[in-house]
Formats: sequence, structure tokens, C-alpha cells
Amino acid sequence: MGRPKITVVGAGNVGGTVAQRLAEKNCYDIILVDIIEGVPQGKALDLTQAGPICGYSSRVVGTNGYDDTADSSVVVITSGVPRKPGMTRDELLATNTKIVRGVVQETARRSPDAILLMVANPLDAMAHVAYRVSRFPKQRVVGMAGVLDSARFRSFIAAELGVSASDVQAMVLGGHGDTMVPLLRYTTVAGRPVSEWLSKEKLEALVRRTRDGGAEIVNLLKAGSAYYAPSAAVVEMVEAMLKDQKRVLPGAALCEGEYGFSGVFVGVPVRLGRGGVEAIIEYDLAPEERAALATSAAAVRELCSAVDRLLGT
Ligand code: NAI
Ligand code: 2OP
Repeated sequence: MGRPKITVVGAGNVGGTVAQRLAEKNCYDIILVDIIEGVPQGKALDLTQAGPICGYSSRVVGTNGYDDTADSSVVVITSGVPRKPGMTRDELLATNTKIVRGVVQETARRSPDAILLMVANPLDAMAHVAYRVSRFPKQRVVGMAGVLDSARFRSFIAAELGVSASDVQAMVLGGHGDTMVPLLRYTTVAGRPVSEWLSKEKLEALVRRTRDGGAEIVNLLKAGSAYYAPSAAVVEMVEAMLKDQKRVLPGAALCEGEYGFSGVFVGVPVRLGRGGVEAIIEYDLAPEERAALATSAAAVRELCSAVDRLLGT
């Protein structure tokens, strides 16, 4: 048995950086796909030539087609347009639904046992597209957002307190948008509740900054959106699954009864292992946390209805 094959669709900022991070792990074959001729081939060649210096021998193939993607273990879907300053993630819906539908059709039939890891925005709605189009079991469709949003929150708390971000634990749930839900009661610094470290006002400011974390970077970059932290989040989830680590991380998963939701992809704590989303972990939420999560799920549901109109119900 060879190395697990990982397909990364979209060789732009996020996809290219995911390919780099995976290549540096030295234990996967990576297929990088894009519609722009030359870009995935050029990035794959460049990554291959970094191998002798960085000490890896990962196979990286760049292509504009899908034949090389056959029998992938994981397909990471980053293909889609990113935000421009002033745009919301939701404004990407129509364009990215079309792109993601085509990509899922191409990849799912060549890799019927793969796990689809969604990245393109609006994230939760794109997971819904992938689930509908692939007809894969719900365990094998998951979206990356909560790991990124939680990492942003952790890094802001760590900077505020002057401690290592490794000692800050946080879980940001809900949709990847303005309604995301950082769970303050479950946020700890070295095992101590964050409310014992920071004032309510300060925490509110950090929650606001986390919600606006993507836009803050879009406004600074002016062209494109974040990709270093997003690609790191993707790789953490890929490894949790392929190495069967059973990590409990936030991920956009299809809830069917959990948290009182039915038939909606939303960010919840999931246990990730070789089977994909092996379980959704239900936290005991306070009434206001439950209400915030319900508001977030309702916003996602609205986008999914728009997706259903685009795909035809
Ligand atoms: P980018 O513009 O740098 O790369 C996107 C790539 O997709 C381009 O190279 C483009 O040619 C390619 N593409 C477009 N249509 C395609 C198709 N039909 N088949 C194959 N490739 C196609 O954008 P970036 O920064 O990499 O972001 C990608 C997506 O990920 C955006 O929708 C962005 O909003 C989203 N994103 C989501 C995050 C999350 O937390 N879930 C975090 C960061 C980005
Ligand atoms: C982010 O949060 C663009 O969704 C992406 O940076």
C-alpha cells in the first residue's frame, strides 16, 4: 500500500499552501487541481524541487484534469472565489455553488470512498452542496471553519495575556460568518476559565475581533483573503482523519437531531478519525449559547435554501 493520496482542488492561496504543508509532512501523495493552465503544474514542480532542501520526497502532481485524483483518501475543496474588501462570505454563494457542484461531481465519482473536506465559502452552505451532489454518507462530508475561528480567538487571548497560545483552549461553533458562537464557558487558559483571566468587556472585544477576523485580513491584504491559518487548520483536520487521531475539533457537520437541529451543516464539536466525522459531541449549553447557535443555524439554513434553488430541489 502506497501513501494516502490527497487531492487539493484550487491551487490558489489556500490550496497552494495546503499542498505545501502536506508535502512537508512527507507521508502523502498530493494531487493539486486548478482550472488555470500551468498554475497547478508550476506549483507542483516548485514544491517537488523544495523537497531535497526541506527533506521530503512527497509526490506532488499538478493537473487541470481529474484522472490523477482517482482513489483519493481525502479531497480538499478550496476552489472558489475569495472575498474582496467590503464583501460578505455569503455574497460568494452563487458563483461558488456552481464551481463546487462541478468539482464534487468530478471528484466524487473517481474517489467514491473519499472524505470531502470543504473550504470554499460560504463554508457551511458549500458543505451542503457537497453532501447533496456527492450523495456520500454524512460522515464523509465536513467543513473547515471552526478550527480557524478558534485559532484566531486563541491567538487574541494569548496575545492579550502574554501567554502561549498552546495553553489556550477554545471552541468556536456555529456557521462560519457573523453569527459564529465562541463558547466562553468552555474557553480556558492553562485549565482555568478565561473569565477568571479577562474582564467581560475585554472578552467581548476579543469575541468581536474573532467574528471579524476574516474581514480584518481581507481589508489588510486588499486582494484575497487569509490562507496561512486556514491551510494550517485544513492540515490539522486531514491528519486527524487520516492518522485516525480521534481529535475533538470544531467542524461543519450535518446535524440530524444533535443540538436540536435537523438536516443542517453547522459548526459543532466533532470527533475526527479514519471514518471522517465519527461523532458529533454534544456540549451542555446555557440557554443563551443554545439560542446563539440556533440563530447561526437559521442563517445557514437560509443560505442552504438559496443553494437548493440554484441546484434545483
Ligand atoms: P484563490 O482565488 O487564491 O484560489 C482559488 C482557486 O480556485 C483559483 O486558483 C481558481 O483558479 C481556482 N478555481 C476556480 N474555479 C475552479 C474550478 N472550477 N476548478 C478548479 N479550480 C478552480 O482563493 P483562496 O484564497 O485560495 O480561497 C479559496 C476559497 O476558500 C474562497 O472561497 C475563500 O473564501 C475560502 N476560504 C475559506 C476559509 C474557511 O475558513 N473555510 C478560509 C480561507 C478561505
Ligand atoms: C476567513 O475567515 C475568508 O473565510 C475566510 O479568513
